Amino acid sequence: MKIDEVKKLLMERVKVAEDPRSVLRAKELRGLYGEIAKLPAEERGGFGRKVNELKVELEGMIVEIEAERESAAVEAIDVTAPMGVNGKLPELMTAESSSRHPLMVEIERVADIYQKMGFEVVESRQLDDDFHMFGALNFPDGHPARDGYDTFRTSEGFIPPAHTSTMQYRVLTAGREKLEAGGQIAVVVPGRVFRNEDVDATHEHTFYQCEGVFVSKDATLGQMLGVLREFFETYYGQKLKIRTQPGYFPFTEPSLEFAIEKPASLGGKGDGWLEMLGCGMIHPNVLKTAGIDPEVYKGFAWGGGIERLVMLKYGIDDIRWFESGKLKFLKEF
Ligand code: DAH
Repeated sequence: MKIDEVKKLLMERVKVAEDPRSVLRAKELRGLYGEIAKLPAEERGGFGRKVNELKVELEGMIVEIEAERESAAVEAIDVTAPMGVNGKLPELMTAESSSRHPLMVEIERVADIYQKMGFEVVESRQLDDDFHMFGALNFPDGHPARDGYDTFRTSEGFIPPAHTSTMQYRVLTAGREKLEAGGQIAVVVPGRVFRNEDVDATHEHTFYQCEGVFVSKDATLGQMLGVLREFFETYYGQKLKIRTQPGYFPFTEPSLEFAIEKPASLGGKGDGWLEMLGCGMIHPNVLKTAGIDPEVYKGFAWGGGIERLVMLKYGIDDIRWFESGKLKFLKEF
């Protein structure tokens, strides 16, 4: 067969062959190679080169055809189709199915309970500054209480908030108009907080808190305890014993620490008290800084860790599980 005829034939065949590469082994091509040896010496070089050129050309076509077919095969997967369509699961979809992180689910539950009690939910932020972290909260400059918060600081001097109380100033100033119109401020702020401290079973450098702020003309500590009892009893779905003891926070006066007795249903033996949050009447200086007259308005506020709440609910023994990313843990929810 003439070389041009073989070329024409094989080029057609490459286009339709199921395995285009098999064309490189076609007997017609092998035949051309066989002919080289039979040619007179002076013709061998020229003919040999032509046969090689043909082979190279065929290889180029094959690579192109393979690439084309591969991309056509990829496009054929409809990513919007339900899983398992055509009875064939794409590789990816055979991986573990995903789910929401238990903490996110619980934070929503917390916010939902407060919302049903009439509180508005405001988001916190993950980068804040000295004023919102300390100044607006009545921490005097250089006061040792500032050190108690183990704050991180960026090289520009910003502070990833070490508690959700950084939002108090914003909540208070934003609520001023409502107060002046005869209303009240009732806001909760769930948010992520950061502390530069050693990590162990009960301490994380990154965790969540929920802050609460209430201001009206006649807010009282009694009202605050009512709100907190209502929240905890709803969250745990049962009556609880609560206890407070004096605490210290620069932004509340008086300041209290609020504890609940670990119920038997949650593994308690009727003896252990669990510190759940800090709270108190908002310090007059905090109201004043936010432009609210403490002679006219009273407020209470509270803030506590969310992990601790969730750990008690589900009997989780180590706070590090939450940020571990371990499927063994996540799958339990
Ligand atoms: N921010 C405090 C902390 O992280 C908790 C706290 C105490 C929040 C008293 C408050 C409050 O709103 O009134 O330790």
